[in-house]
Amino acid sequence: EVDRKESLYVISTFAAQFFADNLWNTDEGKSIGLSYFKERGFREETLKKFEIGYSPEEWSALNDKALSEGYKQEFLEETGLVIKNDKGRIYDRFRTRVIFPIHNFTGRIIGFGGRTLKTDKSVPKYVNSPESDIYHKSNVLYGLFQAKKAIRDMDNCFLVEGYADVMAVHQAGVENVVASSGTSLTTEQIKLISRFTNSVCILYDGDAAGIKASLRGLDMILEEGLDVKVVLFPDGHDPDSYIQAYGASAFKTHVEKNKKDFIFYKTEILLQDAANDPIKKAGVIRDVVESIAKIPDAIKASVFLRECSSLLNMEERILIAELNKIRLTKA
Ligand code: CTP
Ligand code: MN
Ligand code: MN
Ligand code: MN
Ligand code: MN
Repeated sequence: EVDRKESLYVISTFAAQFFADNLWNTDEGKSIGLSYFKERGFREETLKKFEIGYSPEEWSALNDKALSEGYKQEFLEETGLVIKNDKGRIYDRFRTRVIFPIHNFTGRIIGFGGRTLKTDKSVPKYVNSPESDIYHKSNVLYGLFQAKKAIRDMDNCFLVEGYADVMAVHQAGVENVVASSGTSLTTEQIKLISRFTNSVCILYDGDAAGIKASLRGLDMILEEGLDVKVVLFPDGHDPDSYIQAYGASAFKTHVEKNKKDFIFYKTEILLQDAANDPIKKAGVIRDVVESIAKIPDAIKASVFLRECSSLLNMEERILIAELNKIRLTKA
C-alpha cells in the first residue's frame, strides 16, 4: 500500500517534469503555453516557482513517453493522467492545456489542473485530476506548499478561488495565499490553514457566485474558531484580473482599504437587498446573529454582538436573547 502510493507520487512527479519540459523546451509549448502566460502578465520566475507546464496537442504524448521510460500503465490510469475509454483506447487526460501541478503541503505533486487556451466555450475551462489514493481534493489547498512559510510569518492567510489568482497575488509580492480551487471550501481545508495561522482573509471573485461562496465560507471559518475578514472586488474582477488591470500596488491598497471584519461585510451585503423593509431587516439581524453564534469563543462572540447592536441599531439584550435561542436549538 505504501509502495503503491509511492508509485503514484513518483509518476505524478514524472508527469509534472514532462509538462514543464514541454512548456520550456518545445516550439509548441513556447509559442502556445509560454506566450499565453506572458500575455497574462506572468513572469518566468513565477511560472517556475509553481512548476507550471504545458500538455501538447496529441492524444497520448504523456502516456507514450511514460511507458517508454518504464512507468506502469496502471499507475498512469490510477492517477487519472491517462484515461481508458469504452473501446479500450488510452489517451491523455490533459491535452493542449497549460498545467498547474497541485502539491500537498509537504511539496509532493498529487494532482493537476489544466486550463484550456481556447476562448470559446467548446471545452471546459479547467480539467482537473480525479480523486486518487494520493489526491483528495477536499483536503488540499492549492499553493499551500509555496505559501506556508509566509502564512506563518504574516500570521494570516489570504484565500482566493483560482490557480491564477494564487500565482498573481504571489507575484504581486503577497505570498501568504492559497486557493480552494473552485470547490466549495471544506472543514478539512480550514483545519489545514489553522496549522499555520488563525486568521483568514477571503478574496473571492466579485461576482454573485463569489459573494455567495464568501458568506458560506466565513461561517465555516468562524465555526472552526478562526478570525475571518473579507475583501470584495469590483464586479467581474478576481484578484488576478484586478492585478492585471490596476497593478500590484493598487491591489495591495484595495485589500487594505476594503478588508472588512466578517460582521461588517455580511451586514453590508445583506442590507443591500433589505433596503428599508423592516421585515427584511429583521431577517438580516437574525442572519448576522447566526454567524456570531458559530464563534466558539464566548468573549469574542459577545464583542461581535455589541458591534452588531450598534451597526444595526438594535438593543443588545434582544440580540443576546436571539443568540441564546440559536445556541439552545443547536445544542
Ligand atoms: N474551476 C474548475 N473547473 C471549472 C471552472 C473552475 O476546477 N470548470 C476551478 C479552478 O480551480 C479555477 C477556480 O475554480 O481556478 C476558479 O474558477 P474561475 O473563477 O472560473 O476561473 P479562474 O481561476 O479565474 O480562471 P482564469 O483566470 O484562468 O480564467
Ligand atoms: Mn485514500
Ligand atoms: Mn469565478
Ligand atoms: Mn476567477
Ligand atoms: Mn481569473
